[in-house]
Amino acid sequence: MNPPKATDRLEFRPLGLDDLDDLAALLGDPVVMRYYPRVRDRAEARDWITWNQGLYERVGYGLWAVTLRETGEFVGDCGLTPQEVEGVTDVEVGYHVRADRQGHGYATEAAAACHDHARDVLGVSRLIAIIHPENVPSQRVAEKIGLRYERDATSSDGDPVRLYATAF
Ligand SMILES: CC(C)(COP(=O)(O)OP(=O)(O)OC[C@H]1O[C@@H](n2cnc3c(N)ncnc32)[C@H](O)[C@@H]1OP(=O)(O)O)[C@@H](O)C(=O)NCCC(=O)NCCS
Repeated sequence: MNPPKATDRLEFRPLGLDDLDDLAALLGDPVVMRYYPRVRDRAEARDWITWNQGLYERVGYGLWAVTLRETGEFVGDCGLTPQEVEGVTDVEVGYHVRADRQGHGYATEAAAACHDHARDVLGVSRLIAIIHPENVPSQRVAEKIGLRYERDATSSDGDPVRLYATAF
């Protein structure tokens, strides 16, 4: 299944091994991974790509590479993945933007396109975001695309998280 349609400034495409340098830099950056237990190394970035390629095959969606339409520059990833919280699996919208490209509205623009794709193309009935309690920028992105704080929960790794959600 195709990725979301391009937005004013951004394009989506499936992640591939050609993205390994960009993705390893993204997931290896302590600023980007500030709310994760640790940064990912190059082998884990490769696993991230193959995990998403498996999702494209199995469920028809995943995290996609996000690039600037004007220059083709890789700015991060954004997309949809099945995630389990306290025994229930929902579709989550996720996003990571290069530290030097944050603050330009790219995550909001990309996540809004993924929200619409989930609702209009995939026909999902519920969209969530699982967010670290201190990750204010991510909570703002979730709110700006129409998700609302639902409850505090425990992640599959046992960490406290804030659950944002919307129903279609
Ligand atoms: C979350 C993230 C994707 C946002 O990317 P972005 O492209 O900078 O987001 P936007 O420019 O669309 O801005 C989103 C909101 O976050 C706010 N924001 C950005 N940086 C912030 C900061 N350091 N502190 C507080 N708010 C911040 C913006 O002001 C904006 O809110 P506003 O409209 O109320 O002003 C980016 O910070 C990131 O990649 N973080 C690391 C990865 C991550 O945590 N992903 C989410 C996992 S749940």
